[in-house]
Parts: sequence; C-alpha cells; structure tokens
Amino acid sequence: MKIVQSLQDISQLTTRWKKEGKTITLVPTMGCLHEGHLSLMRQAKTLADKTVVSIFVNPIQFGLGEDLGSYPRQFVIDCELAEKEGVDVVFCPENKDMYNKYFQTSISVKNLSQGMCGKDRPVHFQGVATVVTKLFNLTHPDSAVFGQKDFQQLAIIRQLVKDLNFSIEIFGGPIVREDDGLAMSSRNKYLQGKNRQTALCLYNALTAARKLVQSGKEKILAQTVIDQTKTIITDAGAAVEYVVIKDEATLQDEVFISRDSILVLAAKIVDSVRLIDNGRLFPDGIEE
Ligand code: PAJ
Repeated sequence: MKIVQSLQDISQLTTRWKKEGKTITLVPTMGCLHEGHLSLMRQAKTLADKTVVSIFVNPIQFGLGEDLGSYPRQFVIDCELAEKEGVDVVFCPENKDMYNKYFQTSISVKNLSQGMCGKDRPVHFQGVATVVTKLFNLTHPDSAVFGQKDFQQLAIIRQLVKDLNFSIEIFGGPIVREDDGLAMSSRNKYLQGKNRQTALCLYNALTAARKLVQSGKEKILAQTVIDQTKTIITDAGAAVEYVVIKDEATLQDEVFISRDSILVLAAKIVDSVRLIDNGRLFPDGIEE
C-alpha cells in the first residue's frame, strides 16, 4: 500500500491509473479509523480496481471552540488497518498544501446545509463540501463511499455531485454499531464510564421510536415520536441538539410517519461530546 502526502503525487498517480483504464473509488475519512470506516473500504473494494482512502483532519469543517485540536489521531495504526483491507493508497495531505495562504474558495450546498447539524455548526458543511470537492479533483474517482451515519453529509455530497456535474457515483454504507447499539464514531474515544453509558440513549431512543411506530395501527404524528425521543435523551442525562423525522427520499419533514420516515438525532452527552445517529423507522418491506 502506498502512502502519498503530496497533492501533485496523488494527482499524477490517479491520472496514470485512469490512463491505464483502471477505475478508482475514494473513501474520504478524518482517520482514527474504526469498523465503520473499514466497512466503507470493504464496500469500496467491490466497486473499482483501485481504492484510495484519504486521511485528513479538515480544519475548515471545525467551528471555533470545536475539537479540532483534540480530534483523535492514530496515523500509523490507521495505515495498518487500511493495508489489511487491501486499500491501494492512503492519501494524507498536509494542511499547508490543502489550504495555502492564498486559498479563498468555498463550496456551499445552501439549503441542505441549513437545519439539523448545520444549525449548531454553521461552517461545518461548507468545510465538508469544499474539502470533498478538492479530494474529488485530486483523486479522480469514478465512485466514492460515504457512511449513512452522517445522514445530512451524505445528502449534501449527493447534491454537490449533481450540481457541479461530477461524474462520480456516490454510495452510502450502512451504520456500523457497537454490540450494544452505539453507532461507531471516532469521537466515542472521548467517552468513558458513565458517559459511555449515557451515550446509549441515542440508540435507545431510536429503538423505542421504532417500537412505537411499528406497534401503532393508526397514523402516528411525527411530533409524537419526536417528543418521546427527546424525553428518552433528556431522562438519560444528555442534552438534545435536534430530533427530526424526514422523508428519506425528499428530505422534507414528515407530518405523519410513513414507510420512508427516517429519524435523525443529535445530542450532547457532555459539553464537549456531541453524537449523531439516525435510522429508518420501518425496516424495508414492512407495511405501514
Ligand atoms: P469521518 O468522521 O472520519 O467519517 C468518514 C466516513 O466514515 C464518513 O462517510 C462517515 O459517514 C463514515 N462513518 C463514520 N462512522 C460510521 C459508522 N459507524 N458506520 C458507517 N460509516 C461511518 O465524515 C467525515 O470524516 C468528514 O466529514 C469527511 C467526509 C472525511 C470530510 O472531511
């Protein structure tokens, strides 16, 4: 497995692969890899001849007071993990090359960046959209794989690809969870003891919401499910950031629960640790 730091080198390598007729897939990450990331790499391996994984803690997607400085890093271990998955190249650019002092462009996917995580993290999605655009341009992928765990991020990337006419197919990988249901996240490293226990409230709330809607014979108001979800999170001792129910296809807020309803939530477990989760309320194939 190659490790490439220079922007010019990754561009040359992937251009050469394209000239040789190879297909390329990209898995963008910020490192501190866990099973969730690795599952995306496995999916990626089935999609193309060459798999590129980027590891870059992107400074412009962190707001003031967020955890850029303390974001967990484990580069050597990450490379070992990626190599075991059969990744062809890890691209790990430096800040100074991605954003030199003359850098001034940003990509904003306007409407989809409003609300949910965008409400509490005003610069976040602009930073994500900008870095992903740069990564696409540098690695020339035919496809890219993102996790469904970041529901809003995935929707934004799909829109960006459409709007900017990238010939890149976007795939969403399912959420990988710990045995007790907590969605895997690099930020779970911040959680110990009681806080790790509290963090389970997101998954517990999701499970309870599914139970509520699947046991109901009548149409259920989305607000009823939202209220129950908020109570479970608050009772567990966490702070609700948002709870919404969207139609998975249109991303519109649901008034009544439907087969396409997806519950999307974020909560602060302690002041500095904010977790997100989401899930469909009806599994595929179950009638309303
Ligand atoms: P990061 O948080 O490192 O996540 C990289 C990819 O892994 C994302 O597509 C994310 O949705 C996915 N992922 C994280 N946890 C997952 C889980 N438990 N199951 C499945 N997939 C999971 O998301 C980012 O980095 C950045 O915003 C990035 C897109 C790299 C741009 O900087």
